[in-house]
Amino acid sequence: AETLPASVEALTLQSTTQKSEFPGCFPSLNPMDIYREHIATELSKATDIDAQKIYSRLAWTKTLDQGDLSLPVPSLGIKKNPQELCQELASKFPESDLIYPPTPLGPHLQFFFKPKALTETVLGRIMKEKAAFGTNGNQGLKDPSDPSKGQKKIIIEFSSPNIAKAFHMGHLRSTIIGGFLANLYTVMGWNVVRMNYLGDWGKQYGLLANGYKAFGNEEALAKDPINHLFDVYVKVNHIVSDQDAPIKELKEQIKQKNEKSEDVTALEAELAKLVDASEDEKARRYFKSMEDGDPEALALWRKFRDLSILKYKQAYARLNIDFDVYSGESQVKKESMANAYKAMQDAGIAEDSEGAVIADFTKHGAKKLGKAIIIRKDGTPLYLTRDIGAILERDEEYKFDKMIYVVASQQDLHLAQLFKVTELSGRKDLSDRCSHINFGMVKGMSTRKGTVKFLDDILNDVGDKMHEVMKKNQTKYEQVENPVATADTLGITAVMVQDYTGKRINGYDFNLEAMTSFEGDTGPYLQYAHARLCSMFRKSGLTEEELNTANFDLLSEKHAVDLIRLLASYPDTILNTAKTLEPVTILAYLFKMTHALSSSYDVLKVVGSEPELKKARMALYFSARQVLHNGMRILGLNPVQRM
Ligand code: ARG
Repeated sequence: AETLPASVEALTLQSTTQKSEFPGCFPSLNPMDIYREHIATELSKATDIDAQKIYSRLAWTKTLDQGDLSLPVPSLGIKKNPQELCQELASKFPESDLIYPPTPLGPHLQFFFKPKALTETVLGRIMKEKAAFGTNGNQGLKDPSDPSKGQKKIIIEFSSPNIAKAFHMGHLRSTIIGGFLANLYTVMGWNVVRMNYLGDWGKQYGLLANGYKAFGNEEALAKDPINHLFDVYVKVNHIVSDQDAPIKELKEQIKQKNEKSEDVTALEAELAKLVDASEDEKARRYFKSMEDGDPEALALWRKFRDLSILKYKQAYARLNIDFDVYSGESQVKKESMANAYKAMQDAGIAEDSEGAVIADFTKHGAKKLGKAIIIRKDGTPLYLTRDIGAILERDEEYKFDKMIYVVASQQDLHLAQLFKVTELSGRKDLSDRCSHINFGMVKGMSTRKGTVKFLDDILNDVGDKMHEVMKKNQTKYEQVENPVATADTLGITAVMVQDYTGKRINGYDFNLEAMTSFEGDTGPYLQYAHARLCSMFRKSGLTEEELNTANFDLLSEKHAVDLIRLLASYPDTILNTAKTLEPVTILAYLFKMTHALSSSYDVLKVVGSEPELKKARMALYFSARQVLHNGMRILGLNPVQRM
């Protein structure tokens, strides 16, 4: 598979040789910029309106019949009747090789690009730039006018499952969305650090270690660590809840007796005995020994962690994801937490409350954030405390320009508290560089074989389902070289596309039937569109070199021109995605494009056309395939050649 281009190398050198007077305008990277620059310059010359202003007001259109770019005339802030002004601007716009005379529609001035130059530029570039088309390495430069100053650095923290606990839908979404963001920032020229912040520390390790001593075995652990540890975890948790019932009951009895002022000494002694012997208490003591640095306890914990990471890596590889850093709650240094605590004290935001230390945000202008415990009564840190330590460590270690936490919206409060503490401790410079990318919940995810334990379970299940769907078309199925691998890829695509289909913040139902269907805007449909274009090229018998000599003037039909206009807007789609940070921005574009494609096949035939026409049309489809491929790659999908 073609990989994501390191776009800076590929394109910034070229772009810096061609500077524009408009900020963020790179005509050599983005064909749209040629047109924006042209419109702004020409219209300004003809009217005396500031070119910069025109440039910045030029807007995208929703559909092609509204033009390729449009100028909302009232946004120019000129005190004149907008409709009349619109007419006036239209009449003053000079004749141009690039665009038709602009069309005034109400207060909007619509610009339609002329096909000849557009086709030349767009198809020519796609054929030449390939995987780099649509990327914009300048975005990630510290100084776009001087590449030697280097790239900006971003940490994207995502996935972050809890070792030995189930890999739930929140982790899957974080993995998918985080992977997408990492790809997006990469093609925008940023230096991306992919970080996995594992839930790898806490009392549950005591529970797990003790459970392992009782129920575990080396062989099973080596063979399938995640599942084995999960089984152990489930077993000891059963014990915990079994033991919990009588403890709760005793507590209740004591409470009632106390209310009647009766003697509870005997009951309390009994309770203390139960608690002391409980699995939960043993786990607490075990975890304490880990915190105190007991070598034996730490060795076992490290083994669990290492084996789990190994297994995670295999599953992430199926999603084309490779983390640069496996950090985790265990890695946060006591010293960093102490420093953070000190800064909080100095800033007057840490206060004592019944032996614990808390931050009361309501006293610091953030009513909605409530109160948070920073240090427990027994002196141990919490989830939030570790995050506060970690944010400082990461700032020191990576000196990043931006950091994104990809975490479910259930943790909105947690991250808001983290950023607020950071800000209130005098580090607004740091909190300003951090943001939380959240997402909604998914309902109904369980595999057909039972509960989900791990990422693999989900991916295997969808792959199996996909395999069944493929078998329904026997003739086609027989032509697929490696059906199991293809089903796996299609299944993963199905899951990811379903996830990308709405805005991130919306939840959705995990629907195996819907996502694996070839009908509708699904992953398999997108893959099918790609495979069909690949097959068309194979069947054409043409070579890439031949396509490079195609005469694009022959592409004059409306279907062809509209497709080219859509391809021209791909780089802008990526730029817009970098603003929305919503995968659906790219996805919706790709569906729009594939719909335009499928309505073109009957009109723009390749096989059976005259040789020159055949070549030109194939070049168009070849370019469309490239753009589809590029978009899919940013979404983390693996475009298939055949299916
Ligand atoms: N491990 C956590 C969980 O499963 C997610 C971690 C999110 N990241 C963070 N820095 N708190 O809920």
